[in-house]
Amino acid sequence: MTTLTNRQYFLASRPSGEPTASNVPVRDVPVPEPAAGEVVLRNLYISLDPAIRGWMGDDPNYIEPIAIDDAVRSSVIGRVVKSNDPDYVVGDVAMTMGAWERYTTVQGVTLNKLDESVGIPLSAFLGALGPTGLTAYFGLLEVGKPRSGETVLVSAAAGAVGSVVGQIAKMQGCRVVGMAGTDDKCSWLKDELGFDAVINYKTCGDYGSAIRAACPDGVDVYFDNVGGEILDATLLCLNKFARVAVCGWISTYNIADAPGPRNLWQLVAESVTIQGFTVLDYLERFPEGIGQLVEWMMAGKLKHREEIVDGLDNVLPTFLRLFDGTNQGKLVIRLPEDGTAA
Ligand SMILES: NC(=O)c1ccc[n+]([C@@H]2O[C@H](COP(=O)([O-])OP(=O)(O)OC[C@H]3O[C@@H](n4cnc5c(N)ncnc54)[C@H](OP(=O)(O)O)[C@@H]3O)[C@@H](O)[C@H]2O)c1
Repeated sequence: MTTLTNRQYFLASRPSGEPTASNVPVRDVPVPEPAAGEVVLRNLYISLDPAIRGWMGDDPNYIEPIAIDDAVRSSVIGRVVKSNDPDYVVGDVAMTMGAWERYTTVQGVTLNKLDESVGIPLSAFLGALGPTGLTAYFGLLEVGKPRSGETVLVSAAAGAVGSVVGQIAKMQGCRVVGMAGTDDKCSWLKDELGFDAVINYKTCGDYGSAIRAACPDGVDVYFDNVGGEILDATLLCLNKFARVAVCGWISTYNIADAPGPRNLWQLVAESVTIQGFTVLDYLERFPEGIGQLVEWMMAGKLKHREEIVDGLDNVLPTFLRLFDGTNQGKLVIRLPEDGTAA
């Protein structure tokens, strides 16, 4: 039997600040033959998500930190190349928690089989029809609880999660305001996705003034993807009984001693509810969420943007683009179908 070689990026040391190639070097290791119940995937797509930066640290998190010497954990979609699970045959395509690697070996029960024949690009199942779409769906509807006529403010609004949040909020009859870091992203939100107002937070000057100008009736729901100064400014713009859905604090992920929010007193002043969540809180409802997202996409009500970068060797520099904002939507690494490592 041919022994396959797995190229993988692994955690050699925990980063302080932005991860570097010395924190996350590459190695070639043999792919083990699948044990009973195991399946080997040749990965086709690797999802790049800000959460991975959190897993590289050792703070308590919603899943275990990546252990030193382990491959960098990531959602993947791959084609089955070896199977010791009767439910999977060579050629099947499936999604699972894998790593920044060419081949992923897992128990078959951890896989979600994907149907290539439905005509949806596979990569969409890592984004708008997968974890980031589900984060937007459950985070907005279950935590933000928007009502028709309310104002919803979204940060990192042109990103994988934020862009879906805004579109769902529009479908709920809300006035939707998005914050993003370039004029191009802001134009896309307004012209293509139908956001009511946008703020380029890098050029707007004082955040509070910009938010008040874009949200003249105040903010009823803040979907927080970034934390930091934008959260602090938004806390001063919230209406009575507003809801803050804390999805992520990307502005702090590469800063070890980031200051905490200063304006939390507003929770008392305006009887605000602030709630963090992870998409995994809604695991049992994923079929419902995916069904709804697929329906909206098929009906043309949900648009998504993804940026696909070729080559495993590009994984670390591409990952870092999540933090400088140069990614355009859901960021994915694509690997060739043939047996090469790249
Ligand atoms: N709770 C959950 O279950 C869950 C699940 C998925 C994601 N998340 C969180 O959701 C957030 C968005 O994730 P995503 O996958 O959709 O990524 P994304 O928005 O597609 O990409 C990250 C974006 O964040 C913005 N950003 C980066 N640094 C920033 C800073 N210092 N201040 C303000 N904005 C900054 C950039 O956009 P600009 O050009 O606009 O700056 C960048 O494009 C992250 O915080 C992530 O951790 C949470």
